[in-house]
Formats: sequence, C-alpha cells, structure tokens
Amino acid sequence: MTTSTPQRIENQLTDKGYVPVYTTAVIEQPWERYSATDHAVWAQLFERQREVLVGRASDEFLLAQDAMGMTPHAIPRFDELNAVLRAATGWELIGVQGLLPELDFFDHLAHRRFPVTWWIRSPEQLDYLAEPDLFHDLFGHVPLLMNPVFADYMQAYGRGGVKAHAIGPDALQNLTRLYWYTVEFGLIQQNDGLRIYGSGIVSSKGESIHCLESDAPNRLGFDLERIMRTRYRIDTYQKTYFVIDSFEQLMDATAPDFTPIYAKLAQLESVPAGAVLPTDAVLHRGSGAGWLNDGDV
Ligand code: PHE
Ligand code: CO
Repeated sequence: MTTSTPQRIENQLTDKGYVPVYTTAVIEQPWERYSATDHAVWAQLFERQREVLVGRASDEFLLAQDAMGMTPHAIPRFDELNAVLRAATGWELIGVQGLLPELDFFDHLAHRRFPVTWWIRSPEQLDYLAEPDLFHDLFGHVPLLMNPVFADYMQAYGRGGVKAHAIGPDALQNLTRLYWYTVEFGLIQQNDGLRIYGSGIVSSKGESIHCLESDAPNRLGFDLERIMRTRYRIDTYQKTYFVIDSFEQLMDATAPDFTPIYAKLAQLESVPAGAVLPTDAVLHRGSGAGWLNDGDV
C-alpha cells in the first residue's frame, strides 16, 4: 500500500465491535501513487474472483461490472468509472480514507454518492482483512449501482438511515441488519438458480463458494421484519443468508415507513444468527457444521 498513515479520528463501539472511524474528508483518488504491487493485488483478486463468480454471482452483477469497464489490467480510475456511472444511474464515487461516521455515510448515499476506500490491501491480506478496502468497495459494491432499481434502493437506504439515526440506536441497529443481510450478504433467486448479489460475498472467494454450496448455513426467503431482528456474524461466514426474488421485491418491501416497524420490533427479542423460526420460508435448513456458539453481534 502506498498510503500515508490513515487519519483515524476515533474508535467507535458499534454492533460490529470496536471499529476505526476515519476522517470525513473526501479524498481525490491518488491514482498516480499506486505502486506496481497495488495494481498486481487488484489484478490477482479481480481474476480470481471473476473465475469463482461466473455462474455464482447474479447476471446483473457480472454484466454491470463489464459495462463499467472494470478490468484486471489496472486499478480503475474513479473519474473514468464516474463518467459511465453518472450516465447510467446518476451515482458517483467519492474517495475516502475508510469507514465513515454513520450519519456521513447515510448522507452520501441519500445524495447518490458512494464512498470508496482509496487504498488497497497488501499481498499478505488477499484472503482476509478486518475493514473494507478498495477491492471490497469497488469490485463488490459499485457494479450494482449501474442497476436502476438497486441504485434507487441504495439511495432510499441512505435516506432511511438519516431517519433511523434520529429515531435512536435500536432503530439504527434494525436498519444495519437489513443492510448486512441484503447489500453485504444477499442472495437472489435467478431463473437458472440461486446467485449472489451481496458485496461482502462477491469480494470473498471462500464465502462465494460457501454461501451457495455448503450445507452448513440456512438459506431463507427474504422477510423484512425477520431480517431486522436477526443478529449476524462479523468474524466468520454467515450462519444464515436471505434470498430475494428480484431487486423490485427488495424495493417494494422496503418502501413503507419503517417508524411503526421500529416501534414494534423494540418489543421483540432479537433472533440468533443461526436460528430457523416456524414462520421462515426455508430453502435450505443449515446443518450448522462448524458453527461457533457465541459471537453473534
Ligand atoms: N422505508 C424506509 C424508512 O421509512 C427507508 C428505507 C428504504 C430503508 C429502503 C432501507 C431501504 O425508513
Ligand atoms: Co461493504
């Protein structure tokens, strides 16, 4: 990594544990300063993931990634991607140092700006790192912003985040779980089979295979309130994945005002990450093989 020391402004105790939170400054992508190693890490991860994702990621994701002109050749330039993205859906990428304070993040999304971490992981971190980097943000999140319905969902989520933030921490936790189980770890039922659309999965080789092919995790039909009650894993593969039929379903289900839903959910217990409830639409009941008993957040 060619970076200077990240300007961490605080550690924040969130439901993800202690996470570093960075300066809110928007940073111009220092493209000329990426090293040969940085470009090689991008190329290696890009080629490895594309190989795994053909037939596993949603067609929408793969087509959009090609349409944007992302290639293994070099780390993409944000300004070149922005020309394509603005024309397609009006979204734009902005460079940031890393995770933003929640309200800043929501405000960017509400204005169709997607924050992308400018630095890329080191060759020693190909398989795992604890915080999002350029590969996760750009390869994982950005392609679906080309899809008009998903693009609107992300903006609506940002607006919903500003609102939930004002309501209080429990509402925010409910909304964060929705993000986790859709934007980060969502699966979609395509005509020819189950596919991945979540960014946290598409940027991970191991989880891309595990989420579809392992017997261990639950695969359950999308259910908004159920998801908002469900705890999740930050340090292991997910115990449960939720499956949507289409991005339109996601948009329609999340269109109503969440205020009364937050009030109702405040009276209910949270659901452990691996639980299956009698009311669930079960596509696959997980064997639970390899699950750790504690550590749901
Ligand atoms: N309808 C939600 C609300 O009232 C906003 C939202 C839309 C949240 C889409 C997430 C996704 O708060
Ligand atoms: Co992410």
